Amino acid sequence: MSPASAPGKTLGRRAWEFEEKVVKEMEQQEAKKVMLSGIQPSGDLTLGSYLGAIKNWSSRAEQFDCYYFMADLHAITVRQDPALLRRRTLEQLAQYIACGLDPERNTLFVQSHVPQHAELGWVLNCYTMFGELSRMTQFKDKSAKNADNINGGLFTYPALMAADILLYQPDYIPVGEDQKQHVELTRNIAQRFNGIYGDVFKIPEPYIPKVGARIMSLTNPTSKMSKSDNGDTGRVTLMDDPAHIMKQFKRAVTDSDTQNCVRYDPENKPGVANLMTIYSAVTGKSMAEIEAEFDGLGYGAFKPAVGEAVVETLRPIREKAQRLIADKAYLEGVYRAGREKASYAAQKTLRKVYKKVGFLAP
Ligand code: TYM
Repeated sequence: MSPASAPGKTLGRRAWEFEEKVVKEMEQQEAKKVMLSGIQPSGDLTLGSYLGAIKNWSSRAEQFDCYYFMADLHAITVRQDPALLRRRTLEQLAQYIACGLDPERNTLFVQSHVPQHAELGWVLNCYTMFGELSRMTQFKDKSAKNADNINGGLFTYPALMAADILLYQPDYIPVGEDQKQHVELTRNIAQRFNGIYGDVFKIPEPYIPKVGARIMSLTNPTSKMSKSDNGDTGRVTLMDDPAHIMKQFKRAVTDSDTQNCVRYDPENKPGVANLMTIYSAVTGKSMAEIEAEFDGLGYGAFKPAVGEAVVETLRPIREKAQRLIADKAYLEGVYRAGREKASYAAQKTLRKVYKKVGFLAP
């Protein structure tokens, strides 16, 4: 007899229904999807990292179990000043929080604090092919820019990134366009491993924004706005003051169109298309709306308008980040709590992997 049909048991039935509801809710909670991403503290966070990645991370904590970290292990594939790296790692945490990531509802941590990343990274190196690594465009770009330091870490970096991801069994990886190739390689590595040992890893999906996935340099609109490229004078960072941001936008490269026409044409007008993308990403307006807004007004009106919209978007972030940076003890508390939660999840996967590959239990 089902509990619902038990005679004269109205109270009992209610209790049963209540229990069923609680179990269902618990199951839903357990089945909450996981989102994960990271950024290298190799430079000050730019408008590109914000629009391509972080903006997509915030306000997800309702739906997802979220893990976000400072990828310091990755940062040392290029030489870093140790004191600067430490400072940037802490400031990056403050900026994550200032961008809307509530540490009570998101797990925020430092990659090097969770040794399972390096441990799984080594294992996955042994399941990643030389040919696959050789095809990574980021490796080709970075080795061209750091010709005097093409080290092994720079080459095997995608296997460590696969470990960062697969440790947490995530569903979605919110990243900008340039990281899509690495997430795809992660999927291949996971599928290869699962093919040998059974279902160990969940296969994650890249989650790339429709607008803002690739923000270009303001002075060289055919190359990506980069936080670590010292030659890039066309970047805007989250901590820049309003006057500097306005200056950057006023001198942004457009084109020689004598009509000064604000039209979305990435191939023929890459500078204008980039500015329109930025404006669209921060205001939510469509390209058609932007074209109509600046019809006949020209670049002289358009460029400062984009600058102002960016200033207003970044103002609360910068102000909050400045307050947080001044409170080192608070930030330390956040990353320590984050390490604990992250290690717990990571160790569960690592234990499984070690057993599958045949390591003797300690
Ligand atoms: P990184 O540190 O180069 O960039 C961080 C994030 O910002 C995005 N991004 C951009 N998006 C749009 N336009 C731009 N100009 C721009 N510049 C940067 C990047 O796509 C990225 O999402 N390998 C990663 C860090 C990493 C990681 C991970 C990411 C390490 N482990 C695991 C996800 C999951 C990197 O170098 O990103």
